[in-house]
This record gives sequence, structure tokens and C-alpha cells, in this order.
Amino acid sequence: MKKISVSAPGKLLLMGDHAVVYGHPCIVTAISTRLAVTIEEMGSGGVQTDTPGVADTRFITSALETASKRWGKPLAHMRVVTRSEFTDTYGLGSSAAVTVATVFALQQFLGKPKTIKEIFDVSYEAVLAIQGVGSGFDVAAATFGGTVCYTSRKPIVRMNTEPIPLVVGYTGVKADTATIVKDVAGKRERDREKMDRIFSACAQLVGQAKIAMEESDWKRAGKLMDFNQEYLRDIGVSSEKLETLISAAKGAGAYGAKLSGAGGGDCMIALAPKEKRKAVEDAIILAGGQVIHILPNTVGARMEA
Ligand code: MEV
Repeated sequence: MKKISVSAPGKLLLMGDHAVVYGHPCIVTAISTRLAVTIEEMGSGGVQTDTPGVADTRFITSALETASKRWGKPLAHMRVVTRSEFTDTYGLGSSAAVTVATVFALQQFLGKPKTIKEIFDVSYEAVLAIQGVGSGFDVAAATFGGTVCYTSRKPIVRMNTEPIPLVVGYTGVKADTATIVKDVAGKRERDREKMDRIFSACAQLVGQAKIAMEESDWKRAGKLMDFNQEYLRDIGVSSEKLETLISAAKGAGAYGAKLSGAGGGDCMIALAPKEKRKAVEDAIILAGGQVIHILPNTVGARMEA
């Protein structure tokens, strides 16, 4: 009986949060936290699922339905099983990871060779069917891996980075991404000129950060993160807790720090010199945050043994 296992990584948005929803580029890195999907052939029956560690199983259903419709294959006689390294709380991209892993596993299971771009397209469609909003940056990270400069619906630009000296702090507050993205859209409706000016400025920062990161100029990249955070604060998506953790990290010697993702909670990120890393982590903990140990710039969706 056929059995296929695929895993896909989570993500952290390094630069360009929110602006990416409006057609600007962002920088996103795939992280070491992964989610695996196994599809096993069964003698009979429909599609069975056993999905421990998956907070929202609608993404699996959507992935299967979207792929089956797109590839013209009715699904039956299979069991879909997950294995997750994510906790539901951090906002590290588990929904995109489970969607991409399911689509990729199904493609392998059906034996239909597809390009990696097709895996991305089907996964993004499946995610949008559930979330309604989203630039697809998380789907790009889960599919392609590495650290990429991503503009919605455009080919990704892979970045050459040395290990990124990233520190990640969780606020303890789960953010409601879809609501925050819709709030920002409402603000843009009310003052389009101001918001678009801010998003264009963020896009400039992303361009500069791409160069700084590829040159391993972490001091400059940190400064650019600080500027990005000022704009995110301006559009009203930061929070007191995020600001506290960001200040703590910078006070302890980080090159720069910002929120990562939609804001309102979830995680902040900092770039820290090696000799200050421990001090920055301690400062985040002292300020009431939780340090999350992940590696950035990891491999994208891949087959598992
Ligand atoms: C949310 O994690 C990041 C946003 O830029 C939304 C998106 O790009 O889908 C706010």
C-alpha cells in the first residue's frame, strides 16, 4: 500500500508586514518548526483523517478539496495523518505549513508530477478559501523555504543570507490576524493617501534590508527593522506588550527589533550581536515575554522518509 510523507516549515516575517498585502515586497524566512503530513492508501472507504496538533483542520479539508478539484481526481481510500512541532499560540505559520504539506503529499500520492509553483498556487488558493485575506507570504515560506523576498502572486526572489542572528520573543497574546488585516484595510479606506505613503516607505525599507541582510550587515538591518516598526506603530498594529519586549531587547543591546506578522500580539523579533544574545533573551523574559528557540532560513516543503 502506498504511503507518502511530506513536511513543511513555519515562517517569520522579517520586514514588510501589512505592506505586502497591498502589493509591496516583504522578507520572510522559513523556520525550523515543521509540520508533517502522511497520506496512506487504504483498501476501501473515503478520506479518513487523524490530525493531532492541528488547531484548525479546515486547512486540511480545503487543501484536499482544492487540489482534488484542480487536478480532477476524486479522493477516496486514503488516510491523512499529521505530526506537528507547532504550538497553536505563537502565530508561526502552522496553517500555511499544514496546507502546503497536504497539497504536496497529495500530489506525490496521486503520482501527478507538478511544479513547485503549482504546489504554491493550489496551497494559496486553499488558504484564501478559509481565511479570505492574506498575501500568501506564509505559503511561500512553507513551499520554497529559505529566506525570500516575496511580493504577492509574483515569483519569489531567493536571498543569500548568512545565519540570521535572530531572537524571537512571544508576547503571550494570540493575535487575530484576519481581524487586524481587515482593520488596516478599513483605515486605508478612510485615509488611503497616508496609508499608501506608509506602505511605500515600508517597501523602500524592505529593499534596503534585503541588501543589508545579504551583506550580513546586521547593524544596518536592525536599524531598518526599527524604522519598519515605527511605521507599524503608526498604522496602529503594535501593542503595549510588543513595545515592552521590543524596548527590552534594544535596551539589552539588540541592533534593532520589531513586531513580526499582523501585530496586536504574537511574536516580536530582534537582531542581536552574538555576544549580546543571552542578554537580549534575558531582557525579553524579564519584560514578561517568552523566548522561542527556532532556526531561520530552513528548507521548504520536502519528502520525509
Ligand atoms: C500577517 O502575519 C502578515 C500580514 O502582512 C498579512 C499577510 O501578509 O497576509 C499582516
